[in-house]
Amino acid sequence: MSKVLIVGAGGVGGVVAHKCAQVPEVFSEIVLASRTLSRCEKIQKQIARPIEIAQVDADNVPEMVALINKVKPDLVLNVALPYQDLPIMDACLETGVDYLDTANYEPPDEAKFEYKWQWAYQDRFKKRGIMALLGCGFDPGVTNIFCAHAQKNHFDEIHSVDILDCNAGSHGHPFATNFNPEINIREITQRGKYWENGEWKEIDPMSISMDFDFPECGVKRAYLLYHEELESLVQHIKGLKRIRFWMTFGQEYLTHLRVLQNVGMTRIDPVMFEGREIVPIKFLKALLPDPASLAENYTGKTCIGNLIEGVKDGKLKKLFIYNVCDHAECYKEIKAQAISYTTGVPAMIGAMMMLTGKWRGKGVFNVEEFDPTPFMEKLNIHGLPWIEKHL
Ligand SMILES: NC(=O)c1ccc[n+]([C@@H]2O[C@H](COP(=O)([O-])OP(=O)(O)OC[C@H]3O[C@@H](n4cnc5c(N)ncnc54)[C@H](OP(=O)(O)O)[C@@H]3O)[C@@H](O)[C@H]2O)c1
Repeated sequence: MSKVLIVGAGGVGGVVAHKCAQVPEVFSEIVLASRTLSRCEKIQKQIARPIEIAQVDADNVPEMVALINKVKPDLVLNVALPYQDLPIMDACLETGVDYLDTANYEPPDEAKFEYKWQWAYQDRFKKRGIMALLGCGFDPGVTNIFCAHAQKNHFDEIHSVDILDCNAGSHGHPFATNFNPEINIREITQRGKYWENGEWKEIDPMSISMDFDFPECGVKRAYLLYHEELESLVQHIKGLKRIRFWMTFGQEYLTHLRVLQNVGMTRIDPVMFEGREIVPIKFLKALLPDPASLAENYTGKTCIGNLIEGVKDGKLKKLFIYNVCDHAECYKEIKAQAISYTTGVPAMIGAMMMLTGKWRGKGVFNVEEFDPTPFMEKLNIHGLPWIEKHL
C-alpha cells in the first residue's frame, strides 16, 4: 500500500495514472500534479478510481518541496520533461523521498542529453538513504532490461546490441511528433553517435540508415541516432564491442523536418520577434498537435526490440527480443497512443518494483543494474508482452 506522486500530465502522465489506478494493491493512493491543472482534471475524469490532482511548477524547487511535504508520497514519478529532472531530484533530496523518471536531464539551452548531471547525485542520494531509478520508459527502460535479461539468461558475453524502434502507425496528420515535440525534435536533429571497440563514433544526423523487417510492421527504413540508453549500457553490459540505436521515420516526416530545419523553426536559441524574444522550437511546439491528442484516430503498430549477438557456451548466438504494441488497442484500453503507452507502462512497473521492495538500493541507478526477471514478468501482465526470436 503506497502513495505515488506523478508529475506531468501529458501523454505519458495519462498512461502512468491509468496504469497505476489498475493496481490498487500497490498504488493505494495516486496524486497527479502538473503545470496546467486542467490537464490533470481531464485525466482524473477518465479514471474510475478517485485520484487527487494538484498544480505545480516543477522547475521551482521550493514549490515541489511544499507539494511533496503536503502529499507525503512514498515515491515521486517524474513524467514531466527532462528539464525538470534536476529540480525534482533536488526536491526529493530535501524531503527524503524516492525518485523515478523516463528521460535523462538535458539543459534547455543545449540539445545534449547525458547522464552525468544525474549520476552526480549518487553520493547525495546514498547519504540521504533514498533511491533514484533513471530512464524507466521503453527506450530507455525496457530496452535496457532486455539487455540485462539476455545477459542473465542467454549469453556468457554480449558482443553487439542494435536497439530498433519502429512506429508503423498512422495518425492522419502530415507532421506530428509522438511525444513532446520540443524534446523529440531536439533528439533527432543532433549528431548521431554509436559506440564501437571502446570509443564513441560520431556521424552527421540521419546519415546512416538500413532496412529492417520488423515483426507485424514489415520492412521499414531505420536511421542511426544517438539515444541515452547507449551511455549506461556501455557501462553495464559485459564484453560489449558495439551498441547502436535505430529509429524508423517515414519520408513525409523527414521532408517536413528538413524544411523546418532549413527555415530555422527547430532552433533552440532565442530570436527577436516583434520586440520580444521567442525560441522557434517552442513556438513550433505550440503549433503542432499535442501528442496525447493523436491517440483517438491512431491506427497501426509499434515494434521496439533489441537485436543481440554474442557467445553462449563457446558458440555464436543471435537473438531478437521485442514487443509489438497496437495504437488502437491502447486507445480502447486507456485513451492513449502506443508511444505514450509503451513509456507509461514500464514507468508504472518500475515504480511497482521499488515500492514492493523487488528493486531496492540507496543511490542513483539505471534499470539494467537490477534483476530483470520480476520486471519482465510484469510486462507480460500489464500490457506489453515480449517475444524472443532465436535467429
Ligand atoms: N523512455 C521513453 O521510452 C520515453 C518515450 C517517450 C517520452 N519519454 C519522456 O516522457 C516525458 C513526457 O513525455 P510526453 O509525451 O508525455 O510529453 P507531453 O505530452 O509534452 O507532457 C509533458 C507534461 O509535463 C508538464 N510539464 C512541463 N513542464 C512542467 C513543469 N515545469 N512543471 C510541471 N509540469 C510540467 C507539461 O505541462 P503543460 O501541459 O503545462 O505543458 C505536460 O503536461 C518526457 O520527458 C519524454 O522525454 C520517454
